[in-house]
Amino acid sequence: MLTVKNIHQYYGGSHILRDVSFEATLGKVTVLLGRNGVGKTTLLKSLMGLVPIKSGSIELEGRAIHKATPYERARAGIGFVPQGREIFARLTVEENLRMGLAYKSGSTPIPQELFDLFPVLKQMINRRGGDLSGGQQQQLAIARALAPKPKLLILDEPTEGIQPSIIKDIGRVIRMLADRGDMAIVLCEQYYDFAQELADDYLVMERGEVIARGLGKDMEAQGVRQLVAI
Ligand SMILES: Nc1ncnc2c1ncn2[C@@H]1O[C@H](COP(=O)(O)OP(=O)(O)OP(=O)(O)O)[C@@H](O)[C@H]1O
Ligand SMILES: [Mg+2]
Repeated sequence: MLTVKNIHQYYGGSHILRDVSFEATLGKVTVLLGRNGVGKTTLLKSLMGLVPIKSGSIELEGRAIHKATPYERARAGIGFVPQGREIFARLTVEENLRMGLAYKSGSTPIPQELFDLFPVLKQMINRRGGDLSGGQQQQLAIARALAPKPKLLILDEPTEGIQPSIIKDIGRVIRMLADRGDMAIVLCEQYYDFAQELADDYLVMERGEVIARGLGKDMEAQGVRQLVAI
């Protein structure tokens, strides 16, 4: 679904992403791990077109997208759940979900499935985003990204600052979405146990480079826990 080849990215003179290559496959969760500040968010933003890359290529279903705008990439089928959620605090839950459908025609309904995945959003449909708990906001951010039915879902640290029961719910939803087989998922995480449980494939970054990769089932044996321990 997603093929990333030899990406380099700079913030001013700082070389942040160094020759990053990887693939994300339909029906699989590809987990991206790494300590604070290694470039995980920068990589995810560059996939979405929110930061420009200097060189390298990004393909979605075999089509180059690295010159496309974020809007075009969303239309091409990428859903993005940003670190820190970025919910519209003054808009209601319903309006936030509609923002996820902004590039579809005005009559596109909010898929009922989102409320099956996250029943709390149905109960809170008229509440303001800013009045939701952190965990509820995270569920809303994921639902907003899912609303236009993406083929590739990118999540940047969805468990950050969230209570354990909601983390479990989010984990179940991610697994279920992957198992349906019509979506590739890229999940950036620092919560090792959550990452390991969900990973079909994994990548570890350090100082902007991929320093380890493999199958999720081999993470423990390959010492990934130690690699990302703080
Ligand atoms: N807009 C920016 N301008 C300049 N430098 C930036 C910018 N955003 C991030 N950086 C720097 O790029 C590096 C990578 O940051 P990034 O946010 O990608 O890391 P991260 O792995 O996502 O970290 P965290 O785990 O804390 O979220 C860091 O050194 C950071 O200070
Ligand atoms: Mg980050």
